This record gives sequence, structure tokens and C-alpha cells, in this order.
Amino acid sequence: MPFVERVFSGVQPTGNLHLGNYLGAIVNFVKMQETHNCIYCVVDMHAITQGVDVWGGPVELARNTREVTAAFIAAGIDPKKHIVFNQSQVSGHAELAWIFNCVARMGWLGRMTQFKEKAGKDRENASVGLFDYPVLMAADILLYRATHVPVGEDQKQHLELSRDIAQKFNNDFGDSIRAQGTNDGLFFPLPEPLITGPATRVMSLRDGTKKMSKSDASDNSRINLTDDADTIAQKIRKAKTDPEPLPTEEKGLEARPEADNLVGIFAALSGRSKADVLREFGNGQFSSFKNALAELCVTKLAPIAGEMKRLVADPGHIDAILNEGSDRARAIADETMKLSKDIVGFIRRR
Ligand code: TRP
Repeated sequence: MPFVERVFSGVQPTGNLHLGNYLGAIVNFVKMQETHNCIYCVVDMHAITQGVDVWGGPVELARNTREVTAAFIAAGIDPKKHIVFNQSQVSGHAELAWIFNCVARMGWLGRMTQFKEKAGKDRENASVGLFDYPVLMAADILLYRATHVPVGEDQKQHLELSRDIAQKFNNDFGDSIRAQGTNDGLFFPLPEPLITGPATRVMSLRDGTKKMSKSDASDNSRINLTDDADTIAQKIRKAKTDPEPLPTEEKGLEARPEADNLVGIFAALSGRSKADVLREFGNGQFSSFKNALAELCVTKLAPIAGEMKRLVADPGHIDAILNEGSDRARAIADETMKLSKDIVGFIRRR
């Protein structure tokens, strides 16, 4: 029996959401609602895997969790038709992660580039949670037996690990799964990444070779989802460019990372191809392209910022959405946990 198609994805509540998060992930989340049942999770348990200096402490964490929830809704995710909740409200995430800890191998996790990057040189001082981060991520997805996972390019390796964990679990417990009569010995689906955003890599506005990042020291390097119209326009006008006019064809963007990035942002926000954008703006002055881009960014993003502001002003309303979402998530999660425990041989309370 094939698995029912289901979408799951998560966003960490660690600091500013920016245009990169929006175009690389959230726009896709919105789109997937038309064709799938979707579960969108604010992964607060992932958020605490780095030092408290990074995630900001309890007050910041709660604030950021509500802000990401607000961003989901402001961007067009419907929490009535789909599920929006925060991870820590459903205990199955941690429970399934433990079982997966005993399926995943040290060698697999040791190869994860995100761990290597985030841990830096001082690995001895990284938290165990940071090392284990991809296992919790696999648990997030497989707790709902989700089949499709819209993510940014940087999460591809973690999705491969999720597939390896699902496959090893299915193998290791194959006899038990068959004995339970579950889906021909296939208990967990092998989830597929969907890396199809209009702009899967949005680069810094100050350096076209670096990814747009919430941790860049310069706020001018990114457009935050909470920036107001004036700030957005100013950041675009200040964005780094080179002295050449825009090319008329896409090939002309090679080796011009800043120009390529701005054209990519324009294309993504307008739903056009880069080639099409260059047909309109190629050979023209960079400043007139920037004006058009600033206007486009403001038209698309300022309403989202406004709606987020309105939503976070009423935390009670956001908390009610998270409560309701987590109740619906838990109903699915509990079923998976029940079956998983039977498969592993854990005696459940009956
Ligand atoms: N690791 C993801 C990121 O940093 C966030 C995440 C956690 C996630 N759990 C997930 C994404 C499950 C997709 C599915 O972007």
C-alpha cells in the first residue's frame, strides 16, 4: 500500500526571519497547501542546540516562537486547513528521536556538514544536542510519516539521513513490522526533499558570495520579514553591485554574484524567470532596476510585515493557534508512537 502523501516542514525560532527563509522555504509551504495535507512546525527543540548566547534565552525563545508562527500565518499558511504548532508541545518528537538515536550510527552523523560548520573548531564544546540535531529532525518528519519535505538547499543532507534512518528502522525491525501487519514491512516512508523554491539560495546584499543570514553582523546584508517599507527600499538601494549595466541574457550574470542575486530575487518575487527579467532590464541603468526591485520587495513584503506585527501584538491568539495545532499533531503522532513502541517491543500501558 503506498503511503498517503503528507508534507512536513520546520523552521527554527532563532532570531530574524529574512528574505532567504521566505523565498527558500515559506513560499513553498504556502504553495504545498493547495495539493497536500501539510504540517508546519516551529522547531523550538532544535533552537536550543547551540549556546544560550546564540538562541537568546527563555524570553527570546518564546518571542521568536510566536514570531515564526505569525510569519507562517502572515505569509498565507492556513492553520485551520493545515497544522501549525510548536515542536515541544508534542512529546512524540523526543520519544521517537530516542528510538532513532539507537538506529542512526555515529559515522553518519559525523559526516553532517552543518554540524561541522556550527561546531567549528571546538567540537569538544558543542552540545550533544547539536550533534544529534539531524536525528531529531528525522523524528519530526517520520512521526507523521510525512512523504514530502519542502526545505532549503542546505537541508538536503539531513533529508538523506532521514531516509537512511527510515530505511534502517524498516530493515532492523522488518520481522516485527510484518508481524504487526503494517504496510508489507514498510513502516516509515522514505521522505523526499522538495527543493523547488523560486530562489533556493538568496545571497547577502553586501556580498553575493555569502548566503543571506540572520547572523551576519550587518543588518543591511539582509531583508528581514519584519522590516518596514522604508527600510526595505533603503537596503535594496544600498545593495552592493558592480559598475557594469545589467546583461541582456542570463549567461552575462556568470561571475557577477551580486547582480545575479538581485535578478534572482526579482524573478522569485515576481514569479518570472531571470531571462524574462533581463529582457526587461538588460542594458538599462542599475539604479532603475534597483528602484523597480525596491518597489517589488515593498509590495510583496511590507504587507507580511504589517500582518506579523498585528499578530504578535496578540500573543493569546497565537498561543491558541499553537494549542489547537499541537492537539491535532498529537493525534497523528500518538498513533505512530503506539505502533513504533509495539514494533520495538516496548510494552505500552493498556
Ligand atoms: N533543520 C531545519 C532548518 O534548519 C529545520 C527543521 C527541523 C526541519 N526539523 C525539520 C525542516 C523537519 C524540515 C523537516 O532549516
